[in-house]
Amino acid sequence: MLRQRALLVLLLVLAGCSPTAVDNSAGGDSSKANPALWPKAESPAALTSKETEAAIDLLLEKMTLEQKVGQLIQADISSIKPSDLQQYPLGSILAGGNSGPYGNERASAAKWAELVGEFREVSRNSGAGIPILFGVDAVHGHSNLPGATIFPHNIGLGAANDPVMIRRIGEATAAEISGSGIEWTFAPTLAVPQDLRWGRSYEGYAADPTLVAKYATAMTLGLQGKLESGKVLDAKKVAATAKHFLADGGTADGRDQGDARISEKELIEKHAQGYPAAIDAGALSVMVSFSSWNGAKHHGNKSLVTDVLKGRMGFAGLVVGDWNGHGQVPGCSAGACPDAINAGLDLFMAPDSWKKVYDSTLAAARDGTIAAARIDDAVRRILRVKFKLGLMGDTLTQRGDPALIGTADHLELAREAVAKSLVLLKNNDGVLPIRKGANVLIAGPGADNMAMQAGGWTISWQGTDTKPEDFPNGQTIGRAISDAVRTSGGIATISADGRFEAKPEVAVVVVGERPYAEFEGDAPDLAYRTSPADEELIARLKSQGIRVVVVFLSGRPMFTGKLINQADAFVAAWLPGTQGNG
Ligand code: GLC
Repeated sequence: MLRQRALLVLLLVLAGCSPTAVDNSAGGDSSKANPALWPKAESPAALTSKETEAAIDLLLEKMTLEQKVGQLIQADISSIKPSDLQQYPLGSILAGGNSGPYGNERASAAKWAELVGEFREVSRNSGAGIPILFGVDAVHGHSNLPGATIFPHNIGLGAANDPVMIRRIGEATAAEISGSGIEWTFAPTLAVPQDLRWGRSYEGYAADPTLVAKYATAMTLGLQGKLESGKVLDAKKVAATAKHFLADGGTADGRDQGDARISEKELIEKHAQGYPAAIDAGALSVMVSFSSWNGAKHHGNKSLVTDVLKGRMGFAGLVVGDWNGHGQVPGCSAGACPDAINAGLDLFMAPDSWKKVYDSTLAAARDGTIAAARIDDAVRRILRVKFKLGLMGDTLTQRGDPALIGTADHLELAREAVAKSLVLLKNNDGVLPIRKGANVLIAGPGADNMAMQAGGWTISWQGTDTKPEDFPNGQTIGRAISDAVRTSGGIATISADGRFEAKPEVAVVVVGERPYAEFEGDAPDLAYRTSPADEELIARLKSQGIRVVVVFLSGRPMFTGKLINQADAFVAAWLPGTQGNG
């Protein structure tokens, strides 16, 4: 597939139309969107109600400017404590990739619920009494939480091509997020990765916009349920976030947070298709991408965030920024960016910059740099989400039932997802399936390595420092195969460097990429460089007449060259998560 892509790109260049051609035919500003060209969509009317809007009207009348501006700011738990909310009436709190309750990334669900409760309590009993909204990156299951069900990353789910299963995964993930007392996840990612050198390729479902759109609907409905008029979300449901708006997967050379130098036509046809689907399905939030379009940072592009997303696509929920992403807008800093609010951002993700953002935004509101109507519209959108989540009024929806986490049916679903995500690329002489009773060796660096099979965004941001005890419900690939072989009367040996006593008839060699997240995964090319040790291991096994099955763990398709040629069978397993049983 990739070889064809390379050939296609070559042909395009020879034909004089470089794949990154910018369409200036309109002669206008190539970063100003023309909403009439974009697909129409509409948040369901059930996202709000007359009663909710009336209640928000009353709140807006009562709130001070300080309280309104506070609503527009989100801080990270590593930089704020609950009592700070008495002085700074912030609207939202997040736990970013490397943050955990009370400084512990391995905190239990009960500890997460306790922390959220503390922030909620202070916010409800101070200022305008508006509770904070708490968000987290549960991007392949509730992947911050030891014991949670960790599903394959999105690239594997895309390979499964099963939208019904995606909705079930959304339901299970929402239940586990709710089980830890949290009501908002920054998922699904609707990127359509074009250049797989991008370190976040695995967070995209597919390079095919049609599949991404189908999955956007399925995951949004799985996480939130179908919005119902006059009803708050079920306690086991959470707010979804369609992210990162947009063309995060379309940047030149696949550079994370880079620039998508493409025509508006390509921007629409390739990168926008997931958003109408998610919006029509009722997505309560959209996150703006760090990246830019033809040189203009999205966090400052009003034609996209307001005219297209809120106008043409009728999005009625809240638009949240990415991690100090507003600071990348020319003339802005992490501590100050009225331009982002004027472009249509509603909620600054200001993890450690929230105090400065509060002061600068308050000043901008006071001197009219940000119009009162814009402030009120942003507050309204944020309050709509809080009402829909059952956070407002006296009857706060109770989340925090740890029994919802790591249940047998969720684990079974994850195992099904793993099995459906695997891509068999080679199987000479039917070496697979391995016969019952066989003597099997499981070798290679990934044989018994949960970090390699789970990838980034697992317990920690990069997923590189995890330990076996972080995954009480998981099995490595080696453990799982070994159990299966032994149960069938065979002999199994797990040995990363391929040592064995009785000669095996088949060796499963698990190799691949080490975990990474975001720009840490950006690569100069797609060549997989098998380590000399792995090459030698495979050659040694082959020289003894042992047939070799390679299981390849990666966040993206790669050129595996000699490795796939040496193998008798080859399985692309992507990043399957904790259920090695699959
Ligand atoms: C990160 C990511 C975004 C994530 C956010 C909060 O930088 O770009 O996907 O939701 O910050 O962790």
